[in-house]
Amino acid sequence: MDVVVISGGSGFVGSHLVDAVVTRGFRAVVIDNLITGNPRNLAQWTDDDRVIVYHQDCARPPALDLPVRYVLHFASPASPADYIRYPLETLAAGADGTRGMLELARGHNARFLLASTSEVYGDPLVHPQVESYYGNVNPIGPRSVYDEAKRFAESVVMAYHRTLGVDTAIVRLFNTYGPRMRLNDGRAIPNFVYQALTGQPITIYGDGSMTRSFCYVSDTVEGVLRLLMSDLHDPVNIGNPGEYTILELAQRVLAATGSASPLVYEPAMQDDPKVRRPDIARARTLLDWSPTIPLDQGLAWTIEAFKQDLA
Ligand SMILES: NC(=O)c1ccc[n+]([C@@H]2O[C@H](COP(=O)([O-])OP(=O)(O)OC[C@H]3O[C@@H](n4cnc5c(N)ncnc54)[C@H](O)[C@@H]3O)[C@@H](O)[C@H]2O)c1
Repeated sequence: MDVVVISGGSGFVGSHLVDAVVTRGFRAVVIDNLITGNPRNLAQWTDDDRVIVYHQDCARPPALDLPVRYVLHFASPASPADYIRYPLETLAAGADGTRGMLELARGHNARFLLASTSEVYGDPLVHPQVESYYGNVNPIGPRSVYDEAKRFAESVVMAYHRTLGVDTAIVRLFNTYGPRMRLNDGRAIPNFVYQALTGQPITIYGDGSMTRSFCYVSDTVEGVLRLLMSDLHDPVNIGNPGEYTILELAQRVLAATGSASPLVYEPAMQDDPKVRRPDIARARTLLDWSPTIPLDQGLAWTIEAFKQDLA
């Protein structure tokens, strides 16, 4: 059975990827130091030898005497609350972690895929964001530990590809949401859902006019796997082009939960992007991929999962 190695596989997106690759007939090897992950995300695979889990840092992955075909590097704190809490660990996941996983792929002659992010576009001056846009990132602000780590990671990946001939891919994920996000994750959807379900005020950072786009996790996983199975090397955006203001999102969460939580406004975070929306022409054309789950449906499933987590 061919093996897919997934760093960050005990996290939100990574654990859904584990489910998807095993369902498609692969074995999965997870490397996760649990800095923001949760072993419960893989509880469904306990005692199943198709999933092997190493709780360690991906910068120094274990030697694997297995037929590794694909290496997916998803390890990194990803929520602003997490990467501001763990700035040095976030820089290391992008730099040392990416090198460690690239070396693993190189040693096995495996195809490597980096989970990059729309944050490489920073506070964008081009809207929607197309892959050819170089971005507008403050290199010394508090968010730079994440944005610059991912930009550096993309650069290392391309150097391994150009110089060492490693078969590589880069996916630039836009906001993804769904079950297994942590209740205290800090990103807008889990924040709002948690606050609405527990009757706490809904916290909006800024005046609510900033826009975001939200992709349900099953759509994201399908896009990532299509890119993995392709022969593309240049970055590809995967995200849902539906664009909502943060205020609209809060109102939808209130309607979907039936909550009477009031809205409260806090100052915006420094360098928080004012707009965010993917141009997905490349994914549509080259991967025949586009998202299928509407926001209201994805929100309903996420709210259900959060209710179970709270119970
Ligand atoms: N979820 C999104 O909306 C989104 C958007 C853009 C990019 N991404 C990228 O996708 C990946 C997964 O994001 P997520 O939302 O699932 O976050 P997450 O925090 O739920 O998962 C990240 C996982 O990586 C692990 N990890 C972190 N540093 C590690 C290290 N050095 N060694 C081993 N494991 C380590 C954590 O313990 C966690 O399990 C990240 O690389 C993130 O940058 C996610």
